[in-house]
Amino acid sequence: MKLKNKVAIVTGAGAGMGRSVAIRYAKEGASVVIAEINDDLANETLAEIVSNGGDAIFVPVNVGEERQVEQMVSSAVKKYGRIDVLYNNVAKMHKQDAKVHELSTEVWNELMNVNMNSAFFCCKYVIAEMLKTGGGSVIIVGSPTALVACSSSDTAYSCSKSGGHALARVIAGAYGKENIRANIIIPGTMDTPMIKDIIEDKKIKIDLENAAMLGRLGASNDVDGLAVFLASDDSSYCTGAYFTADGGLTAL
Ligand SMILES: NC(=O)c1ccc[n+]([C@@H]2O[C@H](COP(=O)([O-])OP(=O)(O)OC[C@H]3O[C@@H](n4cnc5c(N)ncnc54)[C@H](O)[C@@H]3O)[C@@H](O)[C@H]2O)c1
Repeated sequence: MKLKNKVAIVTGAGAGMGRSVAIRYAKEGASVVIAEINDDLANETLAEIVSNGGDAIFVPVNVGEERQVEQMVSSAVKKYGRIDVLYNNVAKMHKQDAKVHELSTEVWNELMNVNMNSAFFCCKYVIAEMLKTGGGSVIIVGSPTALVACSSSDTAYSCSKSGGHALARVIAGAYGKENIRANIIIPGTMDTPMIKDIIEDKKIKIDLENAAMLGRLGASNDVDGLAVFLASDDSSYCTGAYFTADGGLTAL
């Protein structure tokens, strides 16, 4: 087991990739904090972990609200005494995200808050704890849309995700000597609830499949291996780096 005795917060662990990573972390021996806004989804993840013999708690949180994040981190520390891994996973897309001249400031602000401010809030309170216990691993889930122009009308989403990329690299530079590492996982187009509406259109789905060198969409569990590697001591000399699990999308 790669994560024995580690405590990991996984945000957005109720569905999609966050759920898969939370379940895998528990199988690797971690105690998992399911930090999630949706009670029903979170409880499903919790039940699966417990039925596999794993250890987890659910802490309800809207990661876009700083006070709630502070409370969530405090509950995690109260239960487990430390935090070794922050898997910062929550983000959302918006149907009204658009090209710059058509984009409302409300949609821009909403996505900046849920996707980028949330990462700042989580890192702020978790890093304060990691500094007390000798270090840890911060993993920020990024996006190809913040690297290449593969989704040209998702302005706010792409900009919010590139803020997460920058945050990880700044943290890597600022806290390396305190033994806190920060890295970025870039999934490709993954078959999760986030893109359910988009891939209902069969032509779009085929185009997205063909955009990846592997010729298929990613599955929810296709980032699990990287997520375990970056959380574990196997990645002890990795920091400030991008790791793709995108089927070759950004190598095109
Ligand atoms: N799906 C893709 O194609 C894709 C591609 C590249 C990057 N990503 C990134 O991967 C990450 C996970 O994406 P996914 O597709 O698994 O997402 P998803 O929409 O399938 O699941 C997101 C989870 O986060 C929870 N959540 C949403 N808002 C929240 C909030 N404010 N507070 C707490 N929990 C909240 C949801 O309830 C859900 O359980 C995101 O950062 C996303 O940007 C996704």
